Amino acid sequence: MTSEGLTTTEAPFIELAQKQHQLFINQPYDLYSVENHLAWKSLYARMKPRWDEFANPHFLKGIANLCLDPNAVPSLADVNRFLEPLTGFEAKAVSGYVPAFIFFDCLRNRQFPTTITIRKSDKLDYLPEPDIFHDIAGHVPMHTDPAFANTLVKFGDCAHTAAELVKSIGSHKEQLKVLESIIQAMARFFWFTIEFGLMESPDGLKVYGSGLLSSFGEIEHSIQSKDVQRFPAQLEWLINQSFEIDHFQPLLFVVESFDHLFTMVDQLETWMKQGRLNNVAPGEPQINEQDLMSFLSPS
Ligand SMILES: [Fe+2]
Repeated sequence: MTSEGLTTTEAPFIELAQKQHQLFINQPYDLYSVENHLAWKSLYARMKPRWDEFANPHFLKGIANLCLDPNAVPSLADVNRFLEPLTGFEAKAVSGYVPAFIFFDCLRNRQFPTTITIRKSDKLDYLPEPDIFHDIAGHVPMHTDPAFANTLVKFGDCAHTAAELVKSIGSHKEQLKVLESIIQAMARFFWFTIEFGLMESPDGLKVYGSGLLSSFGEIEHSIQSKDVQRFPAQLEWLINQSFEIDHFQPLLFVVESFDHLFTMVDQLETWMKQGRLNNVAPGEPQINEQDLMSFLSPS
């Protein structure tokens, strides 16, 4: 094992891949340093009791089914051996930011773009960019659930529907305006469900959003704090609600089940076709050029 490391923002292997415009990469497992494995071990050990207390039962079943090693950064090949037979999903290593259409298209093909770097072992708390702990321990256990997995695929369908819809718009300027609004609606919906969603369960409110499932501080805060407003998820609210990523979320939305969530994504697609996403409320998140272009010229 070398000590080069695959640490967030300090990974020469990733820098090289980015320089060579390689988005999909291999996971060079031997490059993980002792410190990288220590970071995983520490993150996992402190989250475990919080998952037991606050995570929804589908996640707990998923994490058991994946047989993750609590002591070492997981190999994606190992994760996929357990994941694929359950829902057909696979974790696919990426070198960095995945433009929106490509991201959703991967979901449609039951592939989850997965960050392979890990945060520093002395900085375990919030980091704005995803890392392998967020992606594998936060997201992937949810992908073992068939109803949840079908919901992600449906998000991919929505992206294809959007790309088709804008083709029929004559003016390039109008195309960009409509796309910006649709991507904003999809990003907000994704944020308030897949990343920060809460769900009813027989034992009360539980967490299923991966941003919460990978955050030691916020998972408890999301369920217990009086400073959080929690409302039943409503499509018209989610697509118009701005969010900020640099602090604990003050507003969270609750779904009844993953079938309920699937129905909402289906409705999102229907509204898109009806033009009801063409002019959502302005605000965050801002949609960048790369995201827009990914819908206009999908490769
Ligand atoms: Fe995420």
